[in-house]
Amino acid sequence: MTTNLGVRRPDKAAYMLRAAATDAGRAYKQQLLDLLDVRTGQTTLDVGCGPGTDLGAFAELVGENGTVIGVDRDPAMLAEARDRTTGLPTVEIREGDAHALPVEPGSVDRARIDRVLMHVADPAAALAPLHRATRPGALVGLAEPDWDTLIVDADDLDTSRAFTRYTTSVAVRNATIGRSLARRTEQAGFTVLTVLATAPVFQDFQAADHTLGLGRNTQKAIDSGHIEEDLGRRWFASLSEGPFLASFSLFTVLCSR
Ligand SMILES: C[S@@+](CC[C@H](N)C(=O)[O-])C[C@H]1O[C@@H](n2cnc3c(N)ncnc32)[C@H](O)[C@@H]1O
Repeated sequence: MTTNLGVRRPDKAAYMLRAAATDAGRAYKQQLLDLLDVRTGQTTLDVGCGPGTDLGAFAELVGENGTVIGVDRDPAMLAEARDRTTGLPTVEIREGDAHALPVEPGSVDRARIDRVLMHVADPAAALAPLHRATRPGALVGLAEPDWDTLIVDADDLDTSRAFTRYTTSVAVRNATIGRSLARRTEQAGFTVLTVLATAPVFQDFQAADHTLGLGRNTQKAIDSGHIEEDLGRRWFASLSEGPFLASFSLFTVLCSR
C-alpha cells in the first residue's frame, strides 16, 4: 500500500530485520548481548522476539545443552522466526503475550526484551511476568528508545518539532519508555546494574525514512490534523534533498533478579 507521500509501508518482519542490520542496530544489539554474558547450558528468553532476529546468536552462546525460548504475540513474526531457526534444535518458538508469558516460573537464566515495551498495553504488567520467569541471580537486558529525543534537521524547525510531538503523542504507545526503563525495572523487583544510552545518527534519508517512518507518519500527522498539509509536504520534500541528519536516544538497561 502506498501513502499520499509516496512511501510504501514496509512488511513488518522485513522492517525489523533491516533496522537490526544497520550499523547502529548491530552495535546496540551486540552491546546488549555482551552485557547479558550468556553461558553454555543456560535457558535464555527473548520476549517479543519478532522475526527471530537474534535467536541464532543466543543459540550459539547457550550451546547444545542450553535452551532458547522466543516469545511473540504476532503469528506472522512467529512464522518468520520458525523459518529462521529451522535446524537449531535448542530454539523453541512460543506464541504468547509479554503480559502472560508462556514460561515456567523461575526457569530463565538470561532474558532480553528489545524494543517491545514501547508497544505493550501496560509496561509494569509486562515486567511482572518477566520477573516471575527468571531465577534468582538471572540477568535481564532491556533496550527501548525515548522518542521525545527524536531530532530531524530541517530549516523548518517547527515542523520537525511537530513531527516529534506526533510520534510521541500519537504514533508510539509508550513513546518515553526509554528514560523510565531503569525506574520501571527497579519497581518490578529487579536490581539495576548498568544503564547506557546510545544515539544512532542517520545521515542517509532512505534509511531514516524506513526506520523512523518519516513519510508514513508525516502523512498520518497531516491526515489527523497534527501537521498542516503544505508545511508537512514541504518539510518532507526538503528532507529528501539533503544533506540529511536525524537521531534519537536508545536506552539499554542490564539488571539482575
Ligand atoms: C520492534 S519489534 C522487535 C523485535 C525483536 N525484539 C528485535 O529486536 O528484532 C517488536 C516486537 O514485539 C512484539 N510485541 C509487541 N507487543 C507484544 C506483547 N504484548 N507480547 C509479545 N510480543 C509483543 C511484536 O509482535 C514485535 O514482534
